Amino acid sequence: MAYFWRSLLLQLVLLSFLGVAAVPQAAPPRLSWVFRHIAFADGFVDVYGGENVQKLRNGMLVNISLTRSSGSGFKSRADYYYGFFSAGIKLPVNYSAGVVVAFYLSNAEVFSRNHDEIDFEFLGHIEGDEWVLQTNLYGNGSVGTGREERFHFWFDPAATFHEYSIIWNHRHIVFLVDDVPVREVNHSAAMAGAFPGKPMSLYATIWDGSAWATRGGTRPVDYAYAPFVASFAALEMEGCAWNRTAPGPGEPPCPGGVPVQRLGLRPVDGRDFVELSPPQRAAMERARGRFMFYSYCRDGARYSVMPPECGEGKRRLSSRHNK
Ligand SMILES: *[C@@H]1O[C@H](CO)[C@@H](O)[C@H](O)[C@H]1NC(C)=O
Ligand SMILES: *[C@@H]1O[C@H](CO)[C@@H](O)[C@H](O)[C@H]1NC(C)=O
Ligand SMILES: *[C@@H]1O[C@H](CO)[C@@H](O)[C@H](O)[C@H]1NC(C)=O
Ligand SMILES: *[C@@H]1O[C@H](CO)[C@@H](O)[C@H](O)[C@H]1NC(C)=O
Ligand SMILES: *[C@@H]1O[C@H](CO)[C@@H](O)[C@H](O)[C@H]1NC(C)=O
Repeated sequence: MAYFWRSLLLQLVLLSFLGVAAVPQAAPPRLSWVFRHIAFADGFVDVYGGENVQKLRNGMLVNISLTRSSGSGFKSRADYYYGFFSAGIKLPVNYSAGVVVAFYLSNAEVFSRNHDEIDFEFLGHIEGDEWVLQTNLYGNGSVGTGREERFHFWFDPAATFHEYSIIWNHRHIVFLVDDVPVREVNHSAAMAGAFPGKPMSLYATIWDGSAWATRGGTRPVDYAYAPFVASFAALEMEGCAWNRTAPGPGEPPCPGGVPVQRLGLRPVDGRDFVELSPPQRAAMERARGRFMFYSYCRDGARYSVMPPECGEGKRRLSSRHNK
């Protein structure tokens, strides 16, 4: 009997190493599910494929589909100049190679030559393979320089809803998955003009990315598995809303006159949004160490001269290693 309990204890210890250590834990503060969840009618409009944008549960759940005839998508009515943007997303089940689901900020419809963009992209899935999450950003038309990073998940993103959030303000951009920061891009001198700096709308789309999304484009969309359905819930947008069609005099009003936010949390300039806590940084390093498998900053074949912000990371890395 004593042996039984000892071995059970041993198994528990082992499990906690294998299991818990492998799953990044969200470190406080928790940022998603703090703000009001926005119903479709209160914050969004269809962008395309309207018949494939289904508003369910009074608009608190939106299913967007890719079918043989069309992809689909919706976007925020307002533009935002910094803020916090979050959604619970459930990805298409079963075979979805070539299908891209995107949750992103962009102003490409307004600034065709010098647009800004901050992206979460989910790149189609083949059973047995791991799902791929890609993050990327462009600032002021920096489309010549892709700043992609790619991650695997520590869960099955098609099994249920998980939270994907973007913090964007004058200090940095942070991508979070279930409240675990997975990437931070500082508004440093090196990023300069490539840091997104004009009001953007929030988008959710699903489309055919056959040419590149899965295994370098060798696995195009197979419409025998259509419709491909991605679900969005718990939509949150808090920050500096700016009305492009009826702008105030001069520049957008934010940042500077940042409105007082609900619950005293200020997504544009509040401490929890302009800096990561030490536990958040530690969680981010663990998540990146384990789940990031591509970073443009390590792609020497692509960039013989690395974008300048990559050097910042390296300098920090080497100074840490020299300690
Ligand atoms: C922006 O202002 C215009 C004109 O006042 C108004 O019709 C529109 O609904 C506003 N948009 C938003 C998102 O508030
Ligand atoms: C997914 O695949 C399983 C097993 O092949 C099948 O039973 C199920 O109906 C499929 N689900 C959908 C939504 O197509
Ligand atoms: C961003 O800036 C903060 C504060 O200076 C620093 O601690 C952090 O390491 C930087 N992050 C990146 C990814 O460079
Ligand atoms: C963004 O691009 C425009 C047009 O190319 C340029 O005039 C402007 O100075 C740029 N802004 C920044 C912040 O680099
Ligand atoms: C919408 O998505 C949810 C969650 O993924 C799913 O359970 C539901 O069947 C979908 N509804 C429709 C009408 O497609």
